[in-house]
Amino acid sequence: MKIVVVGGTGLIGSKLVNKLRERGHEAVAAAPNTGVNSITGEGLADALKGASAVVDVTNSPSWEDAAVLKFFETSTRNLLANEAAAGVGHHVALSVVGTDRLLEGGFFRAKLAQENLIKGSSIPYTIVRATQFFEFVKQIADFSTVGNQVRLPPALFQPMAAEDVASALAGIATNSPVNGTVEIGGPERFGLDEAARRDLAARQDPREVIADPQARYYGIAMSERALVPDDNTQLGGTYFDDWLKQSVKQAPKSASQPA
Ligand SMILES: NC(=O)c1ccc[n+]([C@@H]2O[C@H](COP(=O)([O-])OP(=O)(O)OC[C@H]3O[C@@H](n4cnc5c(N)ncnc54)[C@H](OP(=O)(O)O)[C@@H]3O)[C@@H](O)[C@H]2O)c1
Repeated sequence: MKIVVVGGTGLIGSKLVNKLRERGHEAVAAAPNTGVNSITGEGLADALKGASAVVDVTNSPSWEDAAVLKFFETSTRNLLANEAAAGVGHHVALSVVGTDRLLEGGFFRAKLAQENLIKGSSIPYTIVRATQFFEFVKQIADFSTVGNQVRLPPALFQPMAAEDVASALAGIATNSPVNGTVEIGGPERFGLDEAARRDLAARQDPREVIADPQARYYGIAMSERALVPDDNTQLGGTYFDDWLKQSVKQAPKSASQPA
């Protein structure tokens, strides 16, 4: 199958392209630096010729409310229009578990707008809502740091490895569209504060993590289950502590660790 991965040079996209190629598919990594731009439309028509499926794993360069909304709306409209013209039979998009419970945040309003455009289009689709990636936990801690303290709500959290996200997407993109939403998540549930604590400890980062029910997640008030998927979710096989052992071996010191 020819499968175009839009955002194919990013964290998830580059892993997905490799996995599809390993399975014998023709995977095209589409991104601005490979000559394909979903905002301007540059290179899209050529890239999509003969494609069976398109996987959208783009992300907005800016998370400012208006900019991120404009990015996902423009990019999704351009992709869907070009897919219709090329006769693409499956649009797969990566979204976030709990998007509709997180609408206080502009990023999630933009992801919901993306999902709604897909649902309203004529292209058969599968929306894949994933939980937060392990690779993202340190960024969450950094965003919630004041001085030497990280304050996070003790909301339930079920993160997963980017590698497992890419494996799930490879399976979904090479199967029939479900014309609906599937959820994927990690194999364990623990508190968001606990995830940050484990991540920083593995990096020997001295910041203290405090479970604070009043703290916000990227400015969003959190309910206990806002970030976790339903119980019948497809689960990734990688455990957070195993991933930490592996990734911290490669990056022994936290970049944000005070000198
Ligand atoms: N972070 C999480 O925990 C999480 C959880 C669930 C779902 N998600 C979703 O997963 C998706 C992918 O995330 P990621 O971390 O893999 O993103 P990423 O590493 O930031 O990669 C984004 C990709 O999009 C490309 N891109 C940016 N502007 C583009 C344009 N105009 N046209 C074509 N491609 C463009 C980038 O290319 P360049 O590098 O060349 O700019 C890059 O290949 C996002 O939509 C996000 O919402 C994230």
